[in-house]
Amino acid sequence: MSDLPDVFDPRRYAAGPPHDDYRELRERHPVAWQEEYEVLGWPAGPGFWAVTRHADVVRVLKDAATYSSALGATQIRDPDPDDLPFIRRMMLNQDPAASSSAGPARADHHDHGRLRRLVSRAFTPGRTDRFAAAVRNRARTLLGAARDGAEGGAFDLVTEVTDDYALLNLADLLGVPGSDRGLLLEWTERVIGYQDPDEPPVLGPDGRPVDPRSPAMLREMFAYAQELAAHKRREPADDVMTALAHSELGDAELEMFFFLLTVAGNDTVRAAAPGGFLALAEDGEAQQALREGRVGVDSAVEELLRWHPPVLTFRRTAVRDTVLAGQRLRAGDKVVVFHASANHDERVFARPHRLDLSRAPNPHVSFGDGPHVCLGAHFARLQLRVLHEEALRLLPPYTLAGPPRRLVSNFINGIKALPLELSGPARGPLG
Ligand code: HEM
Repeated sequence: MSDLPDVFDPRRYAAGPPHDDYRELRERHPVAWQEEYEVLGWPAGPGFWAVTRHADVVRVLKDAATYSSALGATQIRDPDPDDLPFIRRMMLNQDPAASSSAGPARADHHDHGRLRRLVSRAFTPGRTDRFAAAVRNRARTLLGAARDGAEGGAFDLVTEVTDDYALLNLADLLGVPGSDRGLLLEWTERVIGYQDPDEPPVLGPDGRPVDPRSPAMLREMFAYAQELAAHKRREPADDVMTALAHSELGDAELEMFFFLLTVAGNDTVRAAAPGGFLALAEDGEAQQALREGRVGVDSAVEELLRWHPPVLTFRRTAVRDTVLAGQRLRAGDKVVVFHASANHDERVFARPHRLDLSRAPNPHVSFGDGPHVCLGAHFARLQLRVLHEEALRLLPPYTLAGPPRRLVSNFINGIKALPLELSGPARGPLG
């Protein structure tokens, strides 16, 4: 056993990211070995390197030739080797063509750049912005109803506002009909919540949890993606699924991309939105500055994303022997970047543990960096900006009415409940 802090244990994250331990690792062991013991029914793994400084996180994310997304995919836990070819059909788990020549030849090689170029066309800021009015209406309706229904001035932001907000906005963008939206939620919860005791695991014949990324778990979702694409070919609309259904994407690529979007586009915003409100509820002065217009909502949203990155970790695999921050890594080693640590690195951010809504520059890594930098960042920012603008208009000052309940996960910085107390009269009628 090493004396290094353990930042792997998913159960620890129920109390929030372990910032003291992150700081210790940044100071003493910026690339630190982590044991991967059996936890919550999941088997032990070989262990991994935790990368905690901002500069090293950026370096790993940018250098796909050395740190591969394809070799072992992008989650801390190793996938079943039999599932790897399947998982690599997702762009998240592919490498740029130029870098793959450095790695071992693979029959199932995909070029990340090709897929990224194809789907970026479906995902233009122009298309995204056309959803802005619908996003704003939704923010108004949800916040207004929560405010008006608040018993004793308190309500849970997560169940009453942000869960539906993220899901319904994504469903609009994709073009998923209203009646099917429950399905979208069920699928994404299965994949992301798998470490959380509130989410009952699906057990295999051996009594072990079934990997939620395996083909068997995804069959239902894929069939749905194909049906939806067929529908969009018959009845095109101005949405992402219509654009994808009319693109050069093959059937398997389209299914995989639909899967990626339902997870990447939903749980991240579901985590970011309450995370921002939590920070503002805990810091009345910052909330007041925003309320009085002394800081802009755009820059506030960036600081809230720095403060509460929805994604806690992403994994790469070393393609060859290399050295990172003085630590020797061997080909095949798992290398995991820690976004919340990088965002609080005192080498880059002055007073990182102070919420500074006008912080500039603010080079947080919440959307990643390098070839896989988030494709949905524009849509995510739009949703967060609009939600805060409408909250400022519709809600009086708010504080915490109780402690938040957090997701048990070392991957998503999720919040399952955020009780807010409104500390004044409602701001007036809706609309
Ligand atoms: C605040 C919200 C969000 C955060 C913090 C976030 C974060 C991230 C991060 C860190 C990555 C990089 C993964 C890696 O390094 O391997 C990523 C990739 C991605 N994100 Fe997001 N995301 C958010 C919202 C969204 C939304 C709303 C969508 C779509 C509607 C989306 C779609 C994607 C896709 C498709 C990728 C993969 C890109 C690639 O592999 O080239 N994300 N996201």
